Amino acid sequence: MKMAILIIYATRTGSTKKIAEFIGETLAKLGEEIEIKPIQSEIEFERYKAIVLGSAIQSGKLLPETTEFVKMNKVELSQKPFAVFLVCMTLAMKNSSKYHSFVSAWLEPIRIIVNPVIVGLFPGVLNISKIQKFSDRLKFRLSVLFGVWKEGDHRDWDEIQLWTKKLKSEIDKN
Ligand SMILES: Cc1cc2nc3c(=O)[nH]c(=O)nc-3n(C[C@H](O)[C@H](O)[C@H](O)COP(=O)(O)O)c2cc1C
Repeated sequence: MKMAILIIYATRTGSTKKIAEFIGETLAKLGEEIEIKPIQSEIEFERYKAIVLGSAIQSGKLLPETTEFVKMNKVELSQKPFAVFLVCMTLAMKNSSKYHSFVSAWLEPIRIIVNPVIVGLFPGVLNISKIQKFSDRLKFRLSVLFGVWKEGDHRDWDEIQLWTKKLKSEIDKN
């Protein structure tokens, strides 16, 4: 039986989940078997040929369960192709290319545990009404007001598709 690729996501407001699903659909069109699971799921690693992990960024960090997941499963993750992507708003800012190395450094807590075969850095979504904490909503309203960030969906599906094709070539090398 063909082994599947597992895509795991950590999200707060859903945009990372949608990216995980899109990556899954793209890989499926390229002939791969795919499973997609939230990070809290029980995982039987031996069933998968590669693992892709995606996390939203909050307050300049991966969601805590993401780093925890990598710590807890470092042996299993280092035994097969392991890819990571993050989703944030910094890359939706004007001149975002100058922030790439700054944003890439947010993956360091993972890189020091397991080195990924490829990393994806994607702009996400700012939907203030979906943010749970009042203080966070206020902070974001102010940053929109001052022009730091723009509300809306900044996901670039062409960029994610291109990345997914590179991801497949990396997985195929193994
Ligand atoms: C409370 C909060 C804090 C955030 N902090 C950051 C941040 O420090 N840097 C950044 O680039 N984006 C930040 N974002 C933007 C999120 O990364 C972005 O909205 C992403 O699409 C959320 O993914 P999710 O919908 O999967 O949770 C923050 C969002 C929220 C709600």
